[in-house]
Amino acid sequence: EPEIITDKNQMRNWSRAMRSQGKTIGLVPTMGYLHEGHLSLVKQSHCHANLTVVSIYVNPGQFSPSEDLSIYPSDFQGDLRKVMSLSKAVDVVFHPHNLYDYKNNFKNNDVNDSKRSESGNAGSGVVSCLEEKGMGHETWVRVERLEKGLCGKSRPVFFRGVATIVSKLFNIVEPDFAFFGKKDYQQFRVIQRMVRDLDFGIEVIGSEIARDEDGLALSSRNVHLSPEEREKVLSMLLILLCYDLHITLMKTEPMAPNVDQSSFLEYAYQIVDQESLEAMEEIKSPVVFCIAAWFGKVRLIDNMEINIM
Ligand code: PAJ
Repeated sequence: EPEIITDKNQMRNWSRAMRSQGKTIGLVPTMGYLHEGHLSLVKQSHCHANLTVVSIYVNPGQFSPSEDLSIYPSDFQGDLRKVMSLSKAVDVVFHPHNLYDYKNNFKNNDVNDSKRSESGNAGSGVVSCLEEKGMGHETWVRVERLEKGLCGKSRPVFFRGVATIVSKLFNIVEPDFAFFGKKDYQQFRVIQRMVRDLDFGIEVIGSEIARDEDGLALSSRNVHLSPEEREKVLSMLLILLCYDLHITLMKTEPMAPNVDQSSFLEYAYQIVDQESLEAMEEIKSPVVFCIAAWFGKVRLIDNMEINIM
């Protein structure tokens, strides 16, 4: 059975005690409502580290006030059962109630001031659920170039929030390894870059996308899909597959696929360099083909790495 830790100081003490015994620690950060995709990261951690910590925390700092924080699904008991169903168990489930739970330093007026100056500074009106709630937090980690493209365009607070919470988790858990799914490809590269730029002594490992039998990339948000929407998602996957095939065989970028996409695609067939995430005119280096689409109120992403040389 995993130990459940909710207090961040207790978490850090556990890690330090284990590391002083020479054990290595793998961290799998999640927002809970676990599925096989998350569990595949846990299995990766089992391969690399002596001990595995899974964190479960829905981070308000990466949701904008208009996004789906309030409907984000959770099932802590179910998560524990899934973690325990693995042949090798998780050592700690870190489940903090609130990682921004120190004294609320802003008075109401100050919150408005901070919103105003923030939009002045960043020029993009970046306000997350954290600032909206007036929580006392003002230090943010931004991976300036990588956070801008792809999903960053429609979600300007997202990567700032992710980089910041992951930094906090790294400082609390002090792991040797951290595992991220390539399903959230830009997130994986943002964290990898952050660790390099800020000298976190942590190895970031990217894990392959786990898919359902029908090919749909597993996501906690899939529970919100109707059967018809699920069909549509699969046509998104088909676009990816066609691109992959075309590029692999023809070694060129194909014409835009002739699929009814206008109704749901946010961005499609963006082909970017795997590390810089910069759009490629000509495919000369390993690329990743990224896609994002709306299905009803649910926004889903998928991608495929294409390693032609
Ligand atoms: P969450 O969406 O819960 O995902 C946790 C981890 O599981 C991420 O690294 C994600 O890429 C990975 N993952 C999700 N679906 C996957 C799939 N089908 N195959 C492989 N890996 C998959 O991503 C987050 O949480 C948050 O942004 C977080 C990093 C925890 C910061 O709050």
